[in-house]
Amino acid sequence: MNTPRTVISNVLVIGSGAAGLRAAIAAHMSGVEVLVVGKRLRKDAHTVLAAGGINAAFGNVDPQDNWKFHFADTWQEAYQLANPRMIEIMVIEAPQAVTELAGWGARFARTPNGLLDQRFFGAHRYRRTCYAGDYTGREIMNTLDKKVIELGIPVHEHQYITRLLVDDQVCFGALGFDINTGERTIYLADAVVLAAGGHTRLWRRSSSRRDENTGDGMYLALQAGALLSDMELVQFHPTGMVTPEDWAGTLVTEAVRGEGGILRNNLGERFMTRYDPVRMELSTRDRVALAVYTEIIEGRGTPNGGVYLDISHRSKDHILEKLPRMYRQFLEAQMLDISTQPMEVAPTAHYSMGGVVIDPDTTATRTQGLFAAGEVTSGLHGANRLGGNSLTETLVFGRRAGENAAAYSRSLHSQLRSPAVIKSAVDDLDSLIREGKELARPLQRALRNNMWENCGVVRSEERLSQGLQKINELKSMAEQVDVRPNSEGYRDLAIALDLRASLVVAEATLLAARARCESRGAHQRYDFPALDPAMQVNFVLSLENEALSLHPEPVPPLPDGLLPEIETAEEYSLAGRLLE
Ligand code: FUM
Repeated sequence: MNTPRTVISNVLVIGSGAAGLRAAIAAHMSGVEVLVVGKRLRKDAHTVLAAGGINAAFGNVDPQDNWKFHFADTWQEAYQLANPRMIEIMVIEAPQAVTELAGWGARFARTPNGLLDQRFFGAHRYRRTCYAGDYTGREIMNTLDKKVIELGIPVHEHQYITRLLVDDQVCFGALGFDINTGERTIYLADAVVLAAGGHTRLWRRSSSRRDENTGDGMYLALQAGALLSDMELVQFHPTGMVTPEDWAGTLVTEAVRGEGGILRNNLGERFMTRYDPVRMELSTRDRVALAVYTEIIEGRGTPNGGVYLDISHRSKDHILEKLPRMYRQFLEAQMLDISTQPMEVAPTAHYSMGGVVIDPDTTATRTQGLFAAGEVTSGLHGANRLGGNSLTETLVFGRRAGENAAAYSRSLHSQLRSPAVIKSAVDDLDSLIREGKELARPLQRALRNNMWENCGVVRSEERLSQGLQKINELKSMAEQVDVRPNSEGYRDLAIALDLRASLVVAEATLLAARARCESRGAHQRYDFPALDPAMQVNFVLSLENEALSLHPEPVPPLPDGLLPEIETAEEYSLAGRLLE
């Protein structure tokens, strides 16, 4: 085994997506040394797939809008499981965050009088989603990366972080290796910002690419003594691609519906009239996903197992201007011209609304010196995320994470280092390089099938229990995984580590989903089809001696006066939830 090199910084940022880069910029601007590590090539983090937009209540197109309405929409659609303070911070800071990015050169669409344009996204009462065509995430990534280069912040690519280094509940860095060369690095830091994404690649149909959002960030946090919450709250985006198999699950942006796209079943019915006759295709994601799912399983789907999404009534010029990526995507994957023909779509696992528990103001986790931001965290979205809020989250909480990690670093008098902890992390890595009778990829495939079949759009006690049983089987098989790095690199090792993390994070998800005996937002149960007010709790998980434990915690209360003039009394209607 090679001897690890040591790299020292004040703040180590794990994850080179939007939240990580924004954190790094903030830490640098706070005057400390910062280093970013990412699994993929720089500018190719999952953020580049974020398509339709970023929310900020500017009121540029609908002048009535303001942060209070943004708060009300986010709170209402979170089904009372979100932390109100997190929402408050996001909606108040969003306009400044987006303006700043535009100032750094992000080329967002503009109105004829030069203001940032805003489009409709589902369940927002006003147009508040700023955008760059349907490649908003890519534009944001390019802008942040440019800023990172300008500031001289180092970014280490292809780094797989295997463990956070924690001594006596204080985090002092991480161990990683280069996926291509196997070179190991001990990253020593005063503070670590975890911005390593979610776990939606654990489902068979997912809008994440291979080897991203495998739950590894959540596992790192658990191992480091931090808490996870709301793991059962997984957003299924209503519109993922259906064919060809290699593309199944790939995002078909909500912007298609924002630009007027219509959903129809195989009978030609505009079925959203039955599920949400007022908001129709721009209803909340949980409702549209459940509607699409119901049409398919009740036999009104397309031959390929989807429904139709049609934008062909808009002009080709309009489509090319507003949805250029979608146009290209369908042409490339299916040789389908969406300006003349409908797309076939079906639900796809899209976003982890649960994750690491953080303090809303500082983004600190329970582990001292460990901060977190972005999709790896929980608290902002409750049981249903509004489209466009995640990109806002990355900027707002990424900045806070960087600033607070820097402040924490400056408050220290010396840098912690424990050779015993480092040795244990190195030994753990060594132990995974071994001969065995199993291969990681087929086990990953089995795990994804398991989550799709037993923890999918609609769940039940029986299915969830079956899912947990399967996880146990897969865990023992995973102990026999063959890992032999060779001239092709160390990817097998990364995959084996991903598998180990994914199995624990999947188990956390199944346990929380089984505990939530109700239907609320994205969490739908055949056996408990109604929302249960007694379940207005967050299910919190910790890892002790390799075993997960789960307990309910009350949701932080909504402060008086935060929603003065906005109606919130409206009951969460069950109408249109066609559970079989
Ligand atoms: O559909 C979309 O463009 C996704 C946006 C989001 O998840 O925020």
